[in-house]
This record gives sequence, structure tokens and C-alpha cells, in this order.
Amino acid sequence: MPLILPDEIRTGRLVLRRPVLADAEAIFAGYAADPEVSRYLTWRPHGSVADTRAHISYFASLWDAGDRRSYVIDAADCPCAGGIDLRLADDGRSVVFGYVLRRDRWGRGLMAEALAACVDRALAHPGVWRAWAYCDVDNPASGRVMEKAGMQFEGILRCWSMHPNVDPFRPRDCRVYARVRPDSPAPGYVGSRRLGL
Ligand SMILES: CC(C)(COP(=O)(O)OP(=O)(O)OC[C@H]1O[C@@H](n2cnc3c(N)ncnc32)[C@H](O)[C@@H]1OP(=O)(O)O)[C@@H](O)C(=O)NCCC(=O)NCCS
Repeated sequence: MPLILPDEIRTGRLVLRRPVLADAEAIFAGYAADPEVSRYLTWRPHGSVADTRAHISYFASLWDAGDRRSYVIDAADCPCAGGIDLRLADDGRSVVFGYVLRRDRWGRGLMAEALAACVDRALAHPGVWRAWAYCDVDNPASGRVMEKAGMQFEGILRCWSMHPNVDPFRPRDCRVYARVRPDSPAPGYVGSRRLGL
């Protein structure tokens, strides 16, 4: 089943919405070209607004398919302050998140607010049991965002994700955090039919 998410998600201070090509200049100038922002991410800083436009076109083309959504985050005083990405796994049971915020908006709790709202919506979706994300072991601010969004640290995935701005040759170790449905079956559950329940 595809993810059925609203086109717009509102939190106390933020609006998460569909990306449009007209966002390209603000995103490029705000964070996509900033090497400090992309240091622990999977992409290199954008070299031109054309790079940013290409990214927006790609994510806009996926918007209606229902298994991947990349929301633009607007703050009241700052349109295109950041972005948050949700991806449904092939088996439909888990959603993985990625997120980014422009540097002059760091440290105000904005990303924890955006992530918590998206995790709530993902876990409310029929069939989705697990909402998770990971961060480079050297990116503790991101780990803290996940904790503040109610996710629990689960462990370290070794050599998990390429972060080319840190090391272009070897995948980086990453810390994993997740929230699962509160009514998840206990560990060891093997399916109600097999248990005869
Ligand atoms: C990571 C990022 C999204 C955080 O966004 P934010 O809105 O500033 O996050 P919040 O304000 O909600 O929370 C950040 C928390 O990290 C903490 N923090 C910041 N730097 C830290 C550090 N070096 N070590 C430990 N904790 C740190 C802050 O104190 C805060 O926790 P607190 O509220 O308990 O004090 C933002 O810094 C960013 O976009 N970074 C670049 C992109 C990125 O790394 N994305 C994540 C990829 S996994």
C-alpha cells in the first residue's frame, strides 16, 4: 500500500509542503550550497542553482507515487528553511527519514518538531510499524534530533552510508534510531496465524 500522506503538514511553527521549482534559489542560497550543512549527508554541496532545480524536479516527480516524499519546510520568517524526506520500504512496513536545515536556523528545535510530526503520521499509517533514521557517528546533533522526536537509539550500523564529504571511499558507520508502534508485538512474535491466535 502506498504511503497516504497529506500534501501539507502543519506543526506549531512549521509548514511542510510539496516542493516547487520556484524554491530552487532559496534552497540553493539557504543550504544546498553550504558545505557545513552537507558535511554528513549523502550528497555534495550543489555547485549551481541548476543542480538544485534538478533535485527538486526529481523529488517532485515522485510526489504522487506514494512511497517517497520530500517536503520543503517553511518557517514563518523563513521560507525553504529546510527539507525532510520520507521513504517507504519495499515491504511497506517501515519508513526511513532524512532531513536538513539551513545553518542560521539550527538550535531552535525546528527539526525535532518537523521529524516528530512526520514520525507520528508514518506510524499512523496502516501497515507501517517502524519509523527510523540514521546519522553519521560524528553527527551528534542529528542523533539528538531523533531522540527529541521520540526515537530510541538501537545501535551502530557499520560501513552503512556513503558520506562523500567526510570520506569519498569508505561508507561511514552510522547510529540508528527508531520509533515503532506502541502496540507492536513483543520480540519473538512470528505471526498470528502460525501461533494459532
Ligand atoms: C542536524 C540538524 C537537522 C539539527 O537541526 P536543529 O533544528 O538544529 O535541531 P534541534 O534544535 O531540534 O536539536 C538539536 C539538538 O542537538 C544538540 N546538539 C547540537 N550540536 C551538538 C553536538 N555537537 N553534540 C551534541 N549535541 C548537539 C542541541 O543542543 C539540540 O539538543 P537540545 O535541544 O537537547 O539542546 C541540523 O543541524 C542540520 O540540518 N544539520 C546538517 C544536515 C544534517 O546533518 N542532517 C541530518 C542527517 S542524518
